[in-house]
Amino acid sequence: MTAIDIRYKPAGQFEDTRFEKIHNIVFSNSEEGSICVAEEIATLIKEKQTKNQLCILGLATGSSPIKVYEELVRMHQEEGLSFENVVTFNLDEYFPMDRNSIHSYFYFMHQYLFNHININPENIHIPDGTIPQKELHQYCIDYDLKIKEYGGLDFQLLGIGRTGHIGFNEPGSHYNSGTRSITLDHMTRSDAAPSFLGIENVPKKAITMGIGSVKKAKRIVLLAWGYNKAEIIKKTIEGEITSEVPATYLQDHNNTSFILNDEASQELTRLNTPWLVGPCVWNEELKSKAIVWLCQLTNKSILKLTDKDYNNNGMSSLLSQEGSSYDLNILMFNKLQRTITGWPGGKPNADDSSRPERSNPHKKRVLIFSPHPDDDVISMGGTFDRLVEQGHEVHIAYQTSGNIAVSNYEALKYAEVIKDFNTTNHNVNSIIDKINVSKEDFEDSIEVRQLKGIIRKRESLAATRFVGVPDENVHFLNLPFYETGTIKKKPISQIDIAIVSKIIDTIKPHQIYAAGDLADPHGTHKVCLDTIFAALKILKHHKYMSDCWVWLYRGAWHEWDIHQIDMVVPMSPDQVLKKRKAIFFHQSQKDGVMFQGNDTREFWVRAEERNNETATKYHKLGLADYAALEAFKRYYY
Ligand code: F6R
Repeated sequence: MTAIDIRYKPAGQFEDTRFEKIHNIVFSNSEEGSICVAEEIATLIKEKQTKNQLCILGLATGSSPIKVYEELVRMHQEEGLSFENVVTFNLDEYFPMDRNSIHSYFYFMHQYLFNHININPENIHIPDGTIPQKELHQYCIDYDLKIKEYGGLDFQLLGIGRTGHIGFNEPGSHYNSGTRSITLDHMTRSDAAPSFLGIENVPKKAITMGIGSVKKAKRIVLLAWGYNKAEIIKKTIEGEITSEVPATYLQDHNNTSFILNDEASQELTRLNTPWLVGPCVWNEELKSKAIVWLCQLTNKSILKLTDKDYNNNGMSSLLSQEGSSYDLNILMFNKLQRTITGWPGGKPNADDSSRPERSNPHKKRVLIFSPHPDDDVISMGGTFDRLVEQGHEVHIAYQTSGNIAVSNYEALKYAEVIKDFNTTNHNVNSIIDKINVSKEDFEDSIEVRQLKGIIRKRESLAATRFVGVPDENVHFLNLPFYETGTIKKKPISQIDIAIVSKIIDTIKPHQIYAAGDLADPHGTHKVCLDTIFAALKILKHHKYMSDCWVWLYRGAWHEWDIHQIDMVVPMSPDQVLKKRKAIFFHQSQKDGVMFQGNDTREFWVRAEERNNETATKYHKLGLADYAALEAFKRYYY
């Protein structure tokens, strides 16, 4: 691997903390980590070539290895990396599954890797999802035998499921298991549901290489990206070996590395609560994090923490740095107190030295970016309402049409409404013919997509009118990266970035609000944020931008941790109800949406519970008792 892991011990050992049992390397982003892994694979392939040997690779599918494959393809195309001596064995395949289905792992591997490199097709092995049930047992035995005949796997690439599965070895799998068919865990199926457009379309079974088969590999690299993996990564690296978390079996493999990004590693004790592990550098963020943690641990408010609480919980160095618990407590209390404001656009004619926003100019131009056409009201409906009420010029930019998230049942309902109004409208009749309610996992025709987009546009306008924004301040950007008609989006292009730049440049806002949510199950929020960051980079030298502050709200799935918050906006019980009503205008997303993720609550329930939870946390820390709080983190660009 590259120079990055000099800080770490070699694979087979692990960090010198009491907690970790698997070697791991943390990268600031998944791209860097993936490139590093692709380099390791390429080096291995080349080493084998010089020795005139075959290189036997075990490969995984899913979102985690995509960038590794893209990098290998790039190395083949630009640097001449040859795959002539490569033999591959894929970990798994859904069962039953047709090879040509866009959901098959056969399709995935060809789409991302095999179609673009010079591998001999005979060297590719992927479990066959069409094997008749009665032949399956023997087929699985033969799959393991074939790996053995090649002398075993030189390198096994893995992802990890939130159940702790590797391959599809779900909880309960035996440490010595071989290739076999398995019933998928409910959590695995619900994680796969977005790409199948509904859990009911996800196969219930799969063929998977066993734990025993995987562990025989000479080298194992497991990839995990994103906040959604943080909890299972902690359990796997720090927990006891248990069949309940099959990935823990890797603890006794002597050449395994986990490659993580910041988000996936954030629950590891060494990173989450470093003061429990050893000496740490107490910067402002770590101080806040530690004190909030200490309050939660001791069940005390900030001003009640004592020297003993700090000393007994690994924070004595902080205490000696800051003087006394009394000084520290007051410092932290004031810091949190100053994040609270009922004036998100700044309070006119008030001293703003300890407020989150400037008071000038009194009337600000505000641009709220909303990845989908409902994130604005779900994540910051109360703040949005205050900004309008307090006289700011508020613009909303809906980044994507959101058409993919409208079910065919919903689309048909609207099309039939139009039809009932005008039975002679041939156009509408043709749309109705094209909406296939029995097959959600189908690529929508352009007309159906347009209809679904219009549904979401009209719902959005109903909500923004309700909050009091004039229609001309509501902008539908319809970013092209989203318009594929399927769950899989195109990569962002210069066109997407230009559209986002243009709206910023036209409005010249004093405030931008954007979704800083990186845990969106279908990734659109992250891509939308990337377009904004790219636009800010381009525009930052313009004079008006020096007066533009960027605030990140979090999307529908998570909230900022208390120590990350720079501004919270309180809501009264009446404002909570108003926000709920605004969310209700997004009817196509009510009562069970298509991309529900693992949280079955409706969006308005999630939003209310989340805002209430933030308020409760503030109150428990000793601050005022509000009905609800919406939280924001300032982004410095
Ligand atoms: C896929 C596989 C699975 C995935 C795991 C994580 O071949 O074996 O174990 O690696 O479900 O999937 P992603 O990477 O999509 O989070």
